Amino acid sequence: TAPLITLGLESSCDDTSAAILRGREILSNVVMGQTELHAAFGGVVPEIAARAHAEKLDLAVAEALSRSGLRLAAVDAIAVTAGPGLIGGVLSGVMCAKGLAAGAGKPLIGVNHLAGHALTPRLTDDLAYPYLMLLISGGHCQFLIVRGADRFQRLGGTIDDAPGEAFDKTARLLGLPQPGGPAVEDAARRGNSTRFRFPRPLLDRPGCDMSFSGLKTALLRERDRIVAEKGGLTETDRADLCAGFQAAIRDVLTEKTRRAIALYLEDAPAQPAFAIAGGVAANRAIRAESETLCARSGLRFTAPPLSLCTDNAAMIAYAGSELFAAGHRSDMTLKARPRWPL
Ligand code: KG4
Ligand code: ZN
Repeated sequence: TAPLITLGLESSCDDTSAAILRGREILSNVVMGQTELHAAFGGVVPEIAARAHAEKLDLAVAEALSRSGLRLAAVDAIAVTAGPGLIGGVLSGVMCAKGLAAGAGKPLIGVNHLAGHALTPRLTDDLAYPYLMLLISGGHCQFLIVRGADRFQRLGGTIDDAPGEAFDKTARLLGLPQPGGPAVEDAARRGNSTRFRFPRPLLDRPGCDMSFSGLKTALLRERDRIVAEKGGLTETDRADLCAGFQAAIRDVLTEKTRRAIALYLEDAPAQPAFAIAGGVAANRAIRAESETLCARSGLRFTAPPLSLCTDNAAMIAYAGSELFAAGHRSDMTLKARPRWPL
């Protein structure tokens, strides 16, 4: 049988995206960011995001079709992020997808944004269920055992900030550029990670839950102490603060990953594997620890390319294609959901 042709739509945060997949082949993946629109406000403004999605979705779809060389008539299914996310954007995406599906007489599939992220390793790698997944980005942080396209077991996650958020806030506190992750990682490479001893929250408690909001408070305290003593931060102070901060995040993630692996292996999976995804997965210190842990525990390590880790519609199309194959269909009653736990 011919591979399934899927159109995917994503608009749950600040990227408007449309993609066409033929089986697992990405024919197009158009991502229109909104960074400039929100830059002056220090964060994503929901009203501005919603308006931009409403304006750009049609263009993104037209561009995705054009780059794929296909017409809408050739599409077998339309997949759309139906949550969780900023409701205005999700609503725009769902309405756009319903219009296309009704107009062209195509099946509609509502996709959970987190499922899109969690299934992405299977888009680029031959990964068998069940696999263990760590999703770490500016908005997400959770361990999942992925058992099927709609079967996820959440082992734990952050109880406050996501690690990417912590990296971004740290960069802001130290006067480093945004996004903070790469800037902090770069500074940390030149720093001494033992000069400041930052807390490792929740390591004393069982389970895989994490907390990162206390770290920035500790960092702020050290920063203010140095500034009060010396009148300002030197490059060395900055590098040492970054190194200490990154080591704390790395240690928390490593210990919680060790526990998640132990839970995952209790099921004795035939082809044990660990996938890491999200913007923070780009961090080399964090990634290296995960790879070492996997090697030691007999798990295969995999990470999708970064362009597929960040928000994009190819991951939604892919998740939609798996759900379609499993018999899932949505209809015109499909709802946009601001909250939708896996
Ligand atoms: O997945 P992503 O692009 O967007 C969402 O959060 O949905 O992740 C962006 C986050 C930002 O907070 C950014 O600072 C962080 O990923 N990040 C990093 C690195 N590169 C990006 N954090 C740590 N180290 C990095 N090298
Ligand atoms: Zn996301």
